[in-house]
Order: sequence, then structure tokens, then C-alpha cells
Amino acid sequence: MDALAAELTEVTGPEHVLTDPDVTAGYTTDWTRRFSGQARCVVRPADTGEVAAVLLACGRHGVPVVPQGGNTGLVGGGVPVATGAVVLSARRLRRLDPVDTLSGQVTAGAGVTIAELRAHAAGAGLEYGVDLAARESATVGGTIATNAGGIQTIRYGPTRAQLLGLEAVLADGRVISRLGGIQADNTGYDLTGLLAGSEGTLGVITTARLRLWPAAPPTLTMLAGVPDIEAAAVLQAEIRALLPGVRAAEYFEAPGLALVRAHTGLPAPLGREYPAYLLVDAAATEDETERAVVLAPLQDAAVAMDTQARAGLWAYRERHTESISAAGIPHKLDVALPLGRLAAFRAELDEVIAKADARAIVFGHIGAGNLHVNVLGPAPDDDAVDDAVLRLAAGHGGTISAEHGIGRAKAAVLHLSRSAAEIEAMRAVKAALDPAGLLNPGVLFASP
Ligand code: FAD
Ligand code: MLT
Ligand code: ZN
Repeated sequence: MDALAAELTEVTGPEHVLTDPDVTAGYTTDWTRRFSGQARCVVRPADTGEVAAVLLACGRHGVPVVPQGGNTGLVGGGVPVATGAVVLSARRLRRLDPVDTLSGQVTAGAGVTIAELRAHAAGAGLEYGVDLAARESATVGGTIATNAGGIQTIRYGPTRAQLLGLEAVLADGRVISRLGGIQADNTGYDLTGLLAGSEGTLGVITTARLRLWPAAPPTLTMLAGVPDIEAAAVLQAEIRALLPGVRAAEYFEAPGLALVRAHTGLPAPLGREYPAYLLVDAAATEDETERAVVLAPLQDAAVAMDTQARAGLWAYRERHTESISAAGIPHKLDVALPLGRLAAFRAELDEVIAKADARAIVFGHIGAGNLHVNVLGPAPDDDAVDDAVLRLAAGHGGTISAEHGIGRAKAAVLHLSRSAAEIEAMRAVKAALDPAGLLNPGVLFASP
């Protein structure tokens, strides 16, 4: 055992410093299998004090640290690519306080999963605003670090909008802690907001104070077929105008549905096939529902009211990710566009994909203008198609990352969505908080 591993063992105990490559393999390859590397070791601290001691030890040895939560990230930000880094797994940071029903808030450790948090809130009659298909593994810390969006973003906003404060350990072991849950707090720089979306480059998040919402369970899920993406964008706007309780407006296309059905064995969702589909989830009264279902594309829609039938419709959308990965190692491109540009982008995308001799599965959170372009075909280390799709999105006034972050996958093209002045300011923040570049080198900023 080397000197650093011996020091880390002093901090966490030997069972939480993992060095056997068979054991560390699950921490060193990402969910997509596109990014992988070797870790010097994986360390699993149990509380904020242990996280601080781990960072101090790594800092003394000049060894980089890759923070990791549930390892469901899709841009390679949570795994080391070079050898020699320590992976700091936050999964043992399992604090989960009783829900504070007076303020509608809760304090949760970074390692609590989103499913656990949502169940905990539901037990108190409240709801956590973020939900995503990776809910059983994605953690509070990881979703904050990526500012995850998910299926309810159009209603509750992304993870950053749920944050009232957090506790984090900076690269030099100092702890910043703001867990008081004071909503009216206007005292200078918003460090909590800054750490949200920082992708493990500014500090290790250990605990968060989170806003909860009054539970308004969806009562209605509709799946409608449409001729194209433009029709889907129009239909979701019409439905949202009629149903104020819409919380999700999701999109997928025939090729994605075919992959899902082949992978899962699910039957066809509607009486006939369509080029594209819109899935809407809403809390709606009977009157509102009656007014909505007269919209023409909803005549042939599947409408579900009970929990099991609703989950059945959601499976067509939520099982896209696993079905695509079963077909190959995808290039996952997560763009967002102004709703009025979706149709033009979608048409030009076909040309880009044809030139790359690839195929694209397109789906996403259309209510937020967010499309997941999953490209199958090019080798994992061939970035040409990534570059072309991201440039196309930027050219249409879109962003190169709607919700997954920049990670390693898009660090080289951050300039497509951020000006030189913005990147300089971001690098200055990084240099101020982590001058030695200890935390997640190569993530967010391409190495100089
Ligand atoms: P990890 O993958 O472990 O890490 C992600 C990033 O956060 C890395 O850069 C890592 O260094 C950093 N990090 C992790 N923990 C900490 C910490 N405690 N302190 C500091 N930095 C940390 N994403 C969406 O936004 N919306 C979706 O709808 C969505 N759906 C998904 C569905 C599936 C099936 C899958 C596999 C993924 C999905 N994702 C989605 C992507 C992923 O779930 C999110 O990015 C999630 O936020 C990652 O959380 P994690 O705990 O797995 O983090
Ligand atoms: C989703 O919306 O299902 C996710 O962001 C996962 C993905 O992009 O594959
Ligand atoms: Zn998504």
C-alpha cells in the first residue's frame, strides 16, 4: 500500500479504501461505457470531517480527486480518465433529517438517492421537485453537482432551483456550510448556486438543504402520436394552455420506440404507428381533462388515470436510455433550443447524421426545448459527430448542454455556448477556489 492509501485508511478505515481493480471497476467506467480509466484507489468517507481529511491528504500528495455519487452521469465527469486519481465516492454521506414541515424543507446528505429523498418527502405529504429515470441511483450530491433537470423541470425548475443551502468541502479542506434554510438571505455571493452545476470542480458537496413542494400528484398521463416535432411542440403548448397542472411534456420518435419495444417486449402503445410521440403528465380536474381531450391529436391518444397505467405509458419514454445502450455505446448529446427552432434543427440534424453514416435516436424534455440526440455508430473516441451536432445546436441559438453538464465529453467545445469573457471568469473562480487544480481536472475546462 502506498503512503497516500495508508493515510486514507487512517481516515476511513481499511474497508473504505478500495484498490482491487475488480472492485474499483464499477467506479472507473461511466454509465454509458464511453468513458473509463484507472483509479489509484476509491475512498468512501462517511461524513464531512472525513471528506475534509481525504482532500487534505490528497492535496499533500498532489493527487487529483474525482468526486462521484451514483455514477449515472452521462458526460464522463465522475470517472477518472488518466491513471493516478483518487475517486472520492460520496455514497456513504447518508444523513437524512426529518422533514421540516413548518418550512417545507429537508436536510439530506450527498449520498442519499433521489428515490429515497422523494419517498422521504412523500411520507410528510410533500414532494421533491426533481425526478429522473436514474432516480434509484442518482444522488443528491451528483444531481446538485450537475444541476440535473429531469422530467419535472417545466414545473419546478432544475436542481439549482430546489437549493436553499449546502455544505461542501473546498480543495484545501475548508468547509463552507449554509444549512439554516433561510429563504430570505441576501448576503453577497451565492456560493450555493455557484456549486450547483460545478461538476465536482470547485468542492465536494456533503449535505444540502432542499426546498420541498406541496404534493400535487399527477392524475393524468396522455400519450399522443404526432406527425413531427413541430406538431409535438405546438400540441404541448396547447395542452399547457388548457391544463395549468402540466408537470411534464416529453417527446420521442418512432425509431426510439422501436428500440424500446425490441429491448423490453412492450406492446405498441397506440392503435397505429406515428412518426413521433408526445407524453404529457398533469394534475388535472375532470373538467380540465374533458376540455383537453377534444384537441384533435388526442383523439387517438392513450389516456391513463391510475398509477399502474400511467407507469405503463411512462415506460415508453423512460426506458429509452437503457434500450439505446443495449444497442451500442451512444454519443449522448443533450441540447436545448428555442421551441421555435426545434423543427429546423431536427431537419438539419438528419443531414448531419447521414453524413456521419450513423443513426440518431432523438427524444427528450420537449416542454423545455431539451432534446437528447443519441448517436449510434461512430467509435467512442471519434468526436466528429458530437462536434457537428453541437455546432448545429449552437448555430440555431441553442445550448450544448441542457441538463447533463459539460463533463469531459464537451469540455473542448464549451466555447460554443460560453463567451471568452465568461470562460475566463469561470477559470478565475476555479483558480481562486482550487489553485492547484486538485478537483476533477479535465472536467468542464479542457486541460490547458
Ligand atoms: P455522478 O454520475 O456520480 O457524478 C456526476 C458529476 O457530479 C461528476 O462530475 C462528479 O464529479 C460530480 N459529483 C458527484 N457527486 C458529487 C459531490 N458529492 N460533490 C461534488 N461533485 C460531485 N440527468 C438529467 O439532468 N435529467 C434526466 O432526466 C436524466 N435522466 C437520466 C436517466 C438515466 C437512465 C441515466 C442513466 C442518467 C440520467 N441523467 C439525467 C443523468 C444523471 O442521472 C445525472 O447527471 C445525475 O445528476 C448524476 O448524479 P450521480 O449521483 O449519478 O452523479
Ligand atoms: C432522460 O431524459 O431520459 C435522460 O436525460 C437520459 C438520457 O439522456 O439518456
Ligand atoms: Zn433528460
